[in-house]
Amino acid sequence: MEYFNYSTVIIGSGLAGLYAAIKIQENLPDGKILLVTKADLGESNSRYSQGGIVAVLNENVSDNTASHIADTLNAGAGLSDFNVVKYISENSDKVIKDLISYGVEFDKDEEGNLMFTLEGAHSVNRILHCNGDETGRCIERKLSSLVSENENIIVMQNTIAVELIVENGACKGVVIFDGNNYRTILSNTVILATGGIGQLYKNTTNPLCATGDGIAMAYCAGAILQDMEFVQFHPTALAVQGNDRNFLISEAVRGEGAKLLDANGKYYMSEYHDMRELAPRDIVTRANFDRMEKCGEDFVYLDAKSIQAEKFKKRFPTIYATCERNGIDVSKDYIPVHPAAHYFMGGIKANVDGRTSIKGFYAIGEAASTGLHGANRLASNSLLECVVMAYSLAEFLKNNLDNTPIVISEDVEKNLRKYSQELGFIEYDTDTLKKELQNIMWDYVGIIRSEDTLKTANMQLQNLKYKFQRNSKCLNIAEYEFKNMLIVAQIIINSALNRKESRGAHYRTDYPLTKDVSEHNCILKQQGELSFVR
Ligand code: FAD
Ligand code: SIN
Repeated sequence: MEYFNYSTVIIGSGLAGLYAAIKIQENLPDGKILLVTKADLGESNSRYSQGGIVAVLNENVSDNTASHIADTLNAGAGLSDFNVVKYISENSDKVIKDLISYGVEFDKDEEGNLMFTLEGAHSVNRILHCNGDETGRCIERKLSSLVSENENIIVMQNTIAVELIVENGACKGVVIFDGNNYRTILSNTVILATGGIGQLYKNTTNPLCATGDGIAMAYCAGAILQDMEFVQFHPTALAVQGNDRNFLISEAVRGEGAKLLDANGKYYMSEYHDMRELAPRDIVTRANFDRMEKCGEDFVYLDAKSIQAEKFKKRFPTIYATCERNGIDVSKDYIPVHPAAHYFMGGIKANVDGRTSIKGFYAIGEAASTGLHGANRLASNSLLECVVMAYSLAEFLKNNLDNTPIVISEDVEKNLRKYSQELGFIEYDTDTLKKELQNIMWDYVGIIRSEDTLKTANMQLQNLKYKFQRNSKCLNIAEYEFKNMLIVAQIIINSALNRKESRGAHYRTDYPLTKDVSEHNCILKQQGELSFVR
């Protein structure tokens, strides 16, 4: 095992990780940053984001932070933390302008004014986008190139972080694995920006890297997790088979006027909410699910014919091209869509600047749970949260970077020796195991849950754990991912059982009502057992 020292280690190269690397390097030019990422640089949920990023800009006279705060709290179904919402909203103007200063080009109209669009549950147009529906790719490309050009940021691609090194309540580094070799990276500042968990579900908009690694590692290291039962299902993923992920039909298409209808040709959203197609996401998702069940089909339709074809092509070039590739002419045909796991409101409990319950260990972006999104995320708030958290963490570290020399104990060294030992087992068929897990989560821990479905999931998960006997060292990256998926799935199930009410994205048929008082679910591994803590 080789050991290396860095002042800061960042795991993950989505928007949160890339932007954090740039800002921390800018604030602390003498430090050396290591950025470790599981696939190629920039491969992430961020890359595929479409609709845009919330921008509450001072010059947008029709908008203000009070209105954005109210919309976020309303979507969050009583579980959002007011101070966090306020902080993120009030920092939106600053970070969006900072992104623009790095060369991110948000779409503008012919007069050169920024174009703000509308998405579900927003009361005004406040979402900026790039190249129509390529917001994530454009921002990621720009930030990735800045990171690559920066000689003080060392990038390791195709390398997975597998274990946090924590001793006496402080993080001292992380173990990484490139498929052949293990390395121990010693650092007093370890930042997880590892994104979400969508790949735990059969239907998901998330790419292959979204396996919840960071959340599982944090849990194993003793960090507090929060609200792990809250998985957001997007109502409109393209209903075509055969991919690792479902292509998203952005909510912004509904923002431009597209309507939902069921397989019997009935437009139904007015039966479910006054805001119809632009109701909060959990409501539209459950409405779609309900219509699918009633019609006995595994899809509903999106009717985008009211959007003039040339406008659609210009505003949503990726969606237009993908539909066309699948034989769908959006000006003539209805688009078949169904819900898919999309975003994780739960995660590692963190402050707005990424501080967690463990000293020196930070979590930012989707891997973190700050309380911004509550029980249901407002569209396009996630990219904003990534940027504000990364910015705030870089500011925090400006005055708080810990450069004390790192000493690890004999016990820690002994634990790390496992990575040098041979594994006496055969390789597991992780593709098959992963599909089994995805089916369990989709069928029993999905959009609609109950004690019965959750207990069934629990039982089936125990069988799956029995088939996969890896507790620490694994043979390859896919096995590490699967190990993490099992850990996260178990915590989601337990948290869903523990929340005996329905709220936002967590809907239980046996507890359909929302309690008057909202409480976060906080989870911690204590003496090897999953415990709920206050
Ligand atoms: P990610 O972007 O997911 O990045 C995580 C990174 O960590 C990846 O590089 C991954 O490879 C790496 N990683 C993971 N585990 C490890 C490990 N063990 N070791 C090393 N590296 C690891 N939000 C909005 O606000 N607006 C939108 O328009 C929008 N559209 C979306 C469209 C789609 C299709 C999807 C999937 C999501 C969308 N979202 C949107 C949500 C948003 O994209 C994500 O929440 C956000 O990008 C998360 O950013 P992140 O940096 O936290 O994580
Ligand atoms: C979308 O474009 O519909 C996704 C937006 C989001 O997830 O915030």
